[in-house]
Amino acid sequence: MQQTFESAVASVWAAAWDRGEVEALESLLTPDYVRVGKGSGKAVNLAQLQDEIRTVREAFPDLTTTVDSVVVDGDHAAIFWTTTGTHTRPFMGVPPTNRRVQTRGSNFVTLQGGRIAHETVTWDSSELLNSLGIRHLGDAVEAGAADVVVDSLSGEPDPEIMKGFNRQFVTGVTVVTTKDGGIPKGLAVNAYSSVSLEPPLVMVCVQKTSSTYPALFASTHLGINILSNQQKETVATFASKAADKFAEIAWHEGPNGSPLIDNSSAALEAEIRERFQAKTHTIFICRVRHAEVSEASPMVYQAGRFYDSENLSQL
Ligand SMILES: Cc1cc2nc3c(=O)[nH]c(=O)nc-3n(C[C@H](O)[C@H](O)[C@H](O)COP(=O)(O)O)c2cc1C
Repeated sequence: MQQTFESAVASVWAAAWDRGEVEALESLLTPDYVRVGKGSGKAVNLAQLQDEIRTVREAFPDLTTTVDSVVVDGDHAAIFWTTTGTHTRPFMGVPPTNRRVQTRGSNFVTLQGGRIAHETVTWDSSELLNSLGIRHLGDAVEAGAADVVVDSLSGEPDPEIMKGFNRQFVTGVTVVTTKDGGIPKGLAVNAYSSVSLEPPLVMVCVQKTSSTYPALFASTHLGINILSNQQKETVATFASKAADKFAEIAWHEGPNGSPLIDNSSAALEAEIRERFQAKTHTIFICRVRHAEVSEASPMVYQAGRFYDSENLSQL
């Protein structure tokens, strides 16, 4: 029995994961099969597992899975496996890193008539991302628990109220920069925050649909320029989708090549240390390696309007 089940697992997994023949799973799994991710708690059925495999294989076309061992004990079994693949296509919003990753996992399965009816998997896609050096803000971005009752009964605040909340927050404006094959790229970002002074850590939050995002994601360093009250046109340029935003901009390089915009109020270059996935956005946590501060007064931003910090009245 053990030998039969073991060889069935090895051949079905090779067919499904390594060759994309996901229908092969139907011979090994019961029709009402359920697979639960141990980390996420998410349950999927056979069809959803087949879709997941297709998605993973699209991003890692050379996937190779080895069944390291199968231990059967009555109606239960444990399957230990290792997967290797090269990340050549986008996966969960992560641009290709071309990194070759290896990840291990184990499945605890319940058998019915020699087929898998239920399995708990210690690996899921976010763990694969972790092995790529990318972290996933799983708990933070999942919807609230179903039994949380607020006014809308959805467990989430009304998006309009959230927009109103954000409009009440006053910030400066930065331009976050990098290079893409030697060409300077950048976008306007007000989601900047200092994280700590010792060590000098900062963070920026960038939408994954930004055309700057793939280059930013692949970079080891980035530039953050705090715009001055003289740089209103610079904001417009970097908030646009213009092909060459640096065409009319004077800039110089940081020690690691990040574009630093001349006449900014301040500019820094930082090494990207962590990338946290948050569905639509990625939070870059960076360690500052170089900083420049000028006398130019910063621009102030609130609710879609820009202000001159020289004309503020002190409370
Ligand atoms: C004041 C201001 C603040 C912005 N803040 C952010 C931000 O924090 N994160 C972000 O992803 N986009 C932000 N944007 C929007 C981007 O700058 C905008 O989508 C830009 O067109 C992206 O350019 P790209 O696609 O060429 O990278 C902001 C825009 C403005 C005007």
